[in-house]
Amino acid sequence: MMLKMFLNCVFLHLLLVPLALAANITRGANIAKPGCSSKCGNLTVPYPFGIGIGSGCSIGSSFDVNCNTSFNPPKPFISTGNLEVIDISDAEIRIKNWVATGCYNQMGNLTSQNPIFIDVSRTPFSFSNANMFTIVGCDDFAVIGGSEGRNFTTGCFSLCSRREDLIDGDCTGIGCCQTAIPKGVKKFSALLSTLKNHTGVWPYNPCGYAFVGEQDSFTFHTSDLRDPTFYNRTVDTVPVVLDWVIGTQNCTQAQISNNFTCRLNSYCVDSDTGLGGYRCNCNNGYEGNPYLDPGCKDINECEISDPCVEHGICANYPGSYNCSCGKGYFGDGKKDGLGCFAQNSPFPVVKFSLGIGFGFLSLVLGASWIYFSFQRRKLIKEREKFFHQNGGLLLKQQLSTTHDNSVECAQIYTAEELQKATNNYAEDRILGRGGYGTVYRGILPDKRVVAIKKSRLMDETQIELFINEVVILTQVNHRNVVKLLAKNDDERNLATFFIVSVKENRLFKILEPRVLREGNLEQIHAIAELVKRCLKLVSEDRPTMKEVAMELERLRKVSNHPWAQEDGREETMGLMNEHSNLYTTATTVNIPGQSSDLYSVSINPYSQQYTLDSSMVFPIQSPR
Ligand SMILES: *[C@@H]1O[C@H](CO)[C@@H](O)[C@H](O)[C@H]1NC(C)=O
Ligand SMILES: *[C@@H]1O[C@H](CO)[C@@H](O)[C@H](O)[C@H]1NC(C)=O
Ligand SMILES: *[C@@H]1O[C@H](CO)[C@@H](O)[C@H](O)[C@H]1NC(C)=O
Ligand SMILES: *[C@@H]1O[C@H](CO)[C@@H](O)[C@H](O)[C@H]1NC(C)=O
Ligand SMILES: *[C@@H]1O[C@H](CO)[C@@H](O)[C@H](O)[C@H]1NC(C)=O
Ligand SMILES: *[C@@H]1O[C@H](CO)[C@@H](O)[C@H](O)[C@H]1NC(C)=O
Ligand SMILES: *[C@@H]1O[C@H](CO)[C@@H](O)[C@H](O)[C@H]1NC(C)=O
Ligand SMILES: *[C@@H]1O[C@H](CO)[C@@H](O)[C@H](O)[C@H]1NC(C)=O
Ligand SMILES: *[C@@H]1O[C@H](CO)[C@@H](O)[C@H](O)[C@H]1NC(C)=O
Ligand SMILES: *[C@@H]1O[C@H](CO)[C@@H](O)[C@H](O)[C@H]1NC(C)=O
Repeated sequence: MMLKMFLNCVFLHLLLVPLALAANITRGANIAKPGCSSKCGNLTVPYPFGIGIGSGCSIGSSFDVNCNTSFNPPKPFISTGNLEVIDISDAEIRIKNWVATGCYNQMGNLTSQNPIFIDVSRTPFSFSNANMFTIVGCDDFAVIGGSEGRNFTTGCFSLCSRREDLIDGDCTGIGCCQTAIPKGVKKFSALLSTLKNHTGVWPYNPCGYAFVGEQDSFTFHTSDLRDPTFYNRTVDTVPVVLDWVIGTQNCTQAQISNNFTCRLNSYCVDSDTGLGGYRCNCNNGYEGNPYLDPGCKDINECEISDPCVEHGICANYPGSYNCSCGKGYFGDGKKDGLGCFAQNSPFPVVKFSLGIGFGFLSLVLGASWIYFSFQRRKLIKEREKFFHQNGGLLLKQQLSTTHDNSVECAQIYTAEELQKATNNYAEDRILGRGGYGTVYRGILPDKRVVAIKKSRLMDETQIELFINEVVILTQVNHRNVVKLLAKNDDERNLATFFIVSVKENRLFKILEPRVLREGNLEQIHAIAELVKRCLKLVSEDRPTMKEVAMELERLRKVSNHPWAQEDGREETMGLMNEHSNLYTTATTVNIPGQSSDLYSVSINPYSQQYTLDSSMVFPIQSPR
């Protein structure tokens, strides 16, 4: 399909070129004045020229063409009489040539001589610079003198000493010499002369020639030097080109005069000969004779060449034409343009625009992707840096090396999770402030209430110490230690469990059998009451350690129980030690269904001294 379209396109273009040429030729249509004959022999004579001296068929007597019917076919001559016209075009006429000759015999006697002299003064013509002054011969030179309109003089030597030196097509002095003549000359004469009477070159060059003629019509051949038909051939095939103009006024002057000859749909062109005068040309898209009323006529391009493609509809209008594409097609419809395309077929401009559009879009998307990736990477790098700086890596390493099945790992939370849990570290969530940071009340997504400590400063020298502490906390399951929230799953609030059990008179069900055996009911109740007080949420409601110690002492005195007698002193001493970090009520409970695991309720009044990273969480149930 695409191949067929391509071939069609090529074919149409090939077809179009000759049609365009035809249109160009038609445009310069040669039209004589109405009522006047337009042909003299082969020659078409357009207005402003006219056939017949004084016939009134031309724009002026100097444009009269003398058609001599005594010849067969008739021969046209310009008004001066002796110059035969070969061709008339928009800006030039071509006339039959005059060739100067000089022929010699073997002894050097001149046998025939023919000088040239062409005069077009007092005519609208001047010699065009399309002509060259040419000399052909091996022992010849010529001078040319121009006058009228423009004075000039020049000359050329054409010599050769051996026949072998001659080159076909080369006219630069060896057997052939050419020199340019300027525009605007109206009269010239040329004199051919010899240096040695052709005595040295006579066998291959008995004659010399000189002429002014159209450069493009003449090509030097080495055979020309002894060709007896050279003269007749050159006269017939190498014309002199003459420029022609209307009058001597330029366009500006002529346009304001009463005899300006450029008609409708034409424009005026100043002569470039330097002698004044002008010519008229049809506007683009028009044809006809610009010197004749009613002027140039519109070219109906649609009729002449059908410049639109298969589905294009041609519309002619003055000076040009339009192609429109039929229903279901779009494009400019021109054979030498974009043509017509079916609505659903890829249209080059649309394709191009889409290409540009998508290209631009991809560029923008690509650029933003790179930018955001870069930003993301930067953020990740930064986080990694902080994680590293705050001992995260060390912690991970420590946890992985010390981890075994019996020990629960610490869970590492992301900054976002903690931010969410503390309601963006809201003021009303602050539980306390320490020297190292602030402790917040946090609620995890699974509704667990935790304490979150946010470090103010991170002392890098203390990191290892801190991490070790965290690791130990994850492993230690001691009743005295706060449990860390584990991954021309076994969410249980032990404190609540205990309080509820006491309230529901299930205290004895949760106590270890050993405790029940060793203590009496009164003591156990008293201690349970003490534990209850210790578990109060409001710190003011909780007894001081001194009070606790005193109460325990009192209870011990009440009874002489072995439990109190054996360990009581040391334990109390430990509790009384104000420098110890860890204080505890010595109550151990069993959680049903978890009988194998021991959980301790610990009271740690100095918990804020734990310089834990904000990623670490504690159960909030540990008061004071
Ligand atoms: C048609 O004529 C114009 C002006 O005379 C010329 O410039 C152009 O080259 C011509 N085109 C062809 C195809 O000969
Ligand atoms: C002029 O017409 C004659 C026949 O009428 C023809 O033989 C000759 O070639 C034509 N010359 C030119 C220059 O067209
Ligand atoms: C036509 O040409 C012949 C021969 O050259 C000449 O005698 C005659 O006067 C010419 N006729 C005109 C009208 O120029
Ligand atoms: C040819 O020219 C030579 C000088 O180059 C001269 O002597 C001789 O007389 C000339 N011959 C004739 C026939 O004029
Ligand atoms: C050729 O030239 C020579 C000398 O220049 C002269 O004597 C002779 O008469 C000439 N011959 C003819 C036929 O003119
Ligand atoms: C050309 O030369 C002639 C005299 O040789 C002179 O009268 C004439 O004015 C000159 N023409 C120009 C255009 O110079
Ligand atoms: C040149 O043409 C003329 C007539 O135009 C003729 O008489 C003459 O024989 C021709 N010369 C040659 C060499 O053909
Ligand atoms: C036309 O000729 C006049 C008078 O010689 C001159 O002033 C004017 O510049 C010329 N215009 C052009 C376009 O050459
Ligand atoms: C046009 O008029 C000027 C004077 O106005 C005159 O010199 C010239 O010859 C006239 N041209 C034609 C072609 O009649
Ligand atoms: C030719 O077509 C073009 C675009 O299709 C339009 O803009 C222009 O007006 C048309 N010209 C005429 C004379 O119809």
